[in-house]
Amino acid sequence: MVETKPADALVEIRRISKHFGEGEARVDALRDVTLTINAREVVGLLGPSGSGKSTLLNAIACILEPDGGWMRLDGEVVYDNRWLRGNLRRLRLDKIGFIFQSHNLLPFLNCTDNVALVLTLAGWKMNAAAARARELLTYLQVEHRAAAMPGQLSGGEAQRVAIARALANRPRIILADEPTAALDSARAGIVMDLLHKLAVDQDAAIIAVTHDDKILGRLDRIYRMVDGRLAG
Ligand SMILES: Nc1ncnc2c1ncn2[C@@H]1O[C@H](COP(=O)(O)OP(=O)(O)O)[C@@H](O)[C@H]1O
Ligand SMILES: [Mg+2]
Repeated sequence: MVETKPADALVEIRRISKHFGEGEARVDALRDVTLTINAREVVGLLGPSGSGKSTLLNAIACILEPDGGWMRLDGEVVYDNRWLRGNLRRLRLDKIGFIFQSHNLLPFLNCTDNVALVLTLAGWKMNAAAARARELLTYLQVEHRAAAMPGQLSGGEAQRVAIARALANRPRIILADEPTAALDSARAGIVMDLLHKLAVDQDAAIIAVTHDDKILGRLDRIYRMVDGRLAG
């Protein structure tokens, strides 16, 4: 049977499971998780510590192999009880942008080079990568910090550079693990504004893990996780 793809579904997951450890030590981090996220949506993933939020993001990012289930990303079935693509790194470069809680910028590269590096890894020529990096820093309103080193940036600036880096290759699926945890509410609001803008501008789906009450009102939809299950 051919399942037809809803017009703008970017992340479709059916009954994904993942456990760690065995016997007494076994943890079922994901239990039959099913969800769909559409283009231009900013969706929140909430739940207590240890409920499986990061595990779910890592599975969607094709960083972590599930035990079983089915997953289609941007129209391509990438997992059907096994990975269907040999080159997962390429798949990630093409489809996924990942924003971490702490910005994870490389301390020995300036902001432009941090962003451009992702592009050169994806096969871009150096000059084109640098030009695209500057364009992204402008989009995120940190162009004045282009030549600065990560250690010289404020928390909000560093997070915007990290977002620029996640967007570099125009992925349509943006995953963010507590993107505003390190920011005060004004800065968190700016980051949420940017996520909404880019969901619309880039026709992207955004999934943000958060504990952050400040940004709940800024989400289009919320999934709650408890004990590896989605509670709706
Ligand atoms: N690599 C791992 N090895 C063993 N257990 C893990 C690993 N990653 C996550 N877990 C366990 O899986 C559960 C879910 O973890 P996680 O997805 O990180 O939760 P959250 O992000 O919601 O805090 C937790 O019980 C955690 O201890
Ligand atoms: Mg986590």
